[in-house]
Amino acid sequence: MEVVILPDAEAVAALAARTVAAELRRAERPVLGLATGSSPLGIYAALRGIVEAGELSMDGVRGFALDEYVGLPVGHPESYAEVVRREAVVPLGMDPALVRVPDGAAEDIEAACADYERAIAEAGGVTVQILGIGGNGHIGFNEPTSSLASRTRIKTLAAATRQANARFFAEADGASVPTHCLTQGLGTILEAGALVLVAQGEHKAEAIRQAVEGPLSSRWPASALQLHRRATVIVDEEAASRLE
Ligand code: F6R
Repeated sequence: MEVVILPDAEAVAALAARTVAAELRRAERPVLGLATGSSPLGIYAALRGIVEAGELSMDGVRGFALDEYVGLPVGHPESYAEVVRREAVVPLGMDPALVRVPDGAAEDIEAACADYERAIAEAGGVTVQILGIGGNGHIGFNEPTSSLASRTRIKTLAAATRQANARFFAEADGASVPTHCLTQGLGTILEAGALVLVAQGEHKAEAIRQAVEGPLSSRWPASALQLHRRATVIVDEEAASRLE
């Protein structure tokens, strides 16, 4: 695992975007793994700059989101399908037909999860996966005690995660955060060709310490990155403040 500590969130986003762009550029069948939440927003903005400068083409680039809430109406502004469309697909000029998000409205959740895994495999796998990290160490929505071998499935969101994400829903319609989600598993995420995890702020410092220096443990799901040969963790000084 490579750990890069930079002075601020802007520098984190710029390096993460350059790393992602380099991976996509050299891939024969480029597939971008998309994360939501606030952490990757700077990456998408910086990637847009790279695309607009003509240094990266998103033509034909496929995309797969990490996760989605269960039970939100289609088109809800905080559904990850909408967030991915708004924050990544539109600004980056990706073809919406090539971008998928787990179907949190599916009647048959198990079939939808199996279908999602199949679609990733048929696309040739994810070239580079962008990741944020929860304060409790989750990646995707693999909450603590998720199996290191897990695949796309339904999960109950941890109380801490629902609390952390309430800020987005308060801005939208004040509705409460859903209780369940679909998420790529840790085993799914680990199959991406490269992983780029970003974290900013003191509130992520303990999760980063456990992910980077802690033992490999399902108690801190991001420690699974220790199993990947091409994982890069890019953090600002605050998020790095508990590293030895
Ligand atoms: C979102 C996701 C989550 C977030 C994490 C951090 O797709 O998979 O793991 O990355 O909850 O969220 P923020 O960035 O909002 O602090």
